[in-house]
Amino acid sequence: MDVDDIRAEALSAVSASDSPERLDEVRVEYLGKKGKLTLLARSLRFLDPSERPAAGARNNAAKDAVVQAIEARRAALTAEQLARTLSEDVVDVTLPGRRQNPGSLHPITQTMRRIEDIFLGAGYGVVTGPEIEDDYHNFEALNLPPHHPARTMWDTFYLEGGHVLRTHTSPVQVRVMEKTRPPIRIICPGRVFRRESDLTHTPMFHQVEGLVVDEGISFADLKGTVVGFVRRFYDKEVGVRFRPSYFPFTEPSAEVDAQCVHCEGSGCRVCSGTGWVEVMGCGMVHPNVLRMSGIDAERNTGFAFGFGADRLAAFYFGVDDLRLFFDNDVRFLSQFS
Ligand code: DAH
Repeated sequence: MDVDDIRAEALSAVSASDSPERLDEVRVEYLGKKGKLTLLARSLRFLDPSERPAAGARNNAAKDAVVQAIEARRAALTAEQLARTLSEDVVDVTLPGRRQNPGSLHPITQTMRRIEDIFLGAGYGVVTGPEIEDDYHNFEALNLPPHHPARTMWDTFYLEGGHVLRTHTSPVQVRVMEKTRPPIRIICPGRVFRRESDLTHTPMFHQVEGLVVDEGISFADLKGTVVGFVRRFYDKEVGVRFRPSYFPFTEPSAEVDAQCVHCEGSGCRVCSGTGWVEVMGCGMVHPNVLRMSGIDAERNTGFAFGFGADRLAAFYFGVDDLRLFFDNDVRFLSQFS
């Protein structure tokens, strides 16, 4: 075969190569140590010296042409491969990313903290007490001797040994008065328990008790405190009204209604169409209660109040089923983050 035949054969082998590996084989076959063009170049020495330059030149030209063809083919194959990869390994940039779900404080926790902040700002201390309480602190020291008919105001969980799950946070005011002398200005937030369960009652809920004892404390102080608190809590100049009521541990006693913040008093599902929601019980601490805890009831008077924080949270957020707060359904809870 002469150089032109080998050159033509090599060039067609190059253009027929469909992979870089195949191109390497072709290169070895023609340009390698024992490649066809290499052997041909070596055989030039057998030619007549007068023919060698021309034959050498043709041989070199053939080599150059094959090298160039191989490089061009290699570049084309690489480009083809890149184009294929780009079209096959597509990334769908419109797919939504993986979300992180940051947690948030429970709506009741948020509410309790807001309440505490309001009273802390007014100079109150925050005190807690036991959830398992003895009969004395839950009832007797609050002017509810054994067999007092008003004990039925609370559906009590009774435990062994004369203990109860506290039905309210009022026993904490007793515990504070036993240990502290006036002036006393505290709130007692905490869990309380009652045997009841429906739309507006859960067997466990949260109360905040308030107690102020000092010389010269009057019902006017109670009224100002309660109205101020309710308005700060709702962050609105809502209407607040006091209704005469009865609690064994206060005399006189009152219940406090706030204007419904959802319908502004015109009546809706949150306030059962009345325009008002009952927010707390309160009154002037009964002298018996002061005396039983060792407070001088001749010198001192006091007021107390107690309210359900869950109810307040429900009115504030417009929730009409209290049980939702304790089902721990994230679809509900995440609405308060
Ligand atoms: N302890 C009462 C209850 O759970 C609420 C209450 C009413 C607390 C009047 C008070 C008060 O301190 O003075 O129903």
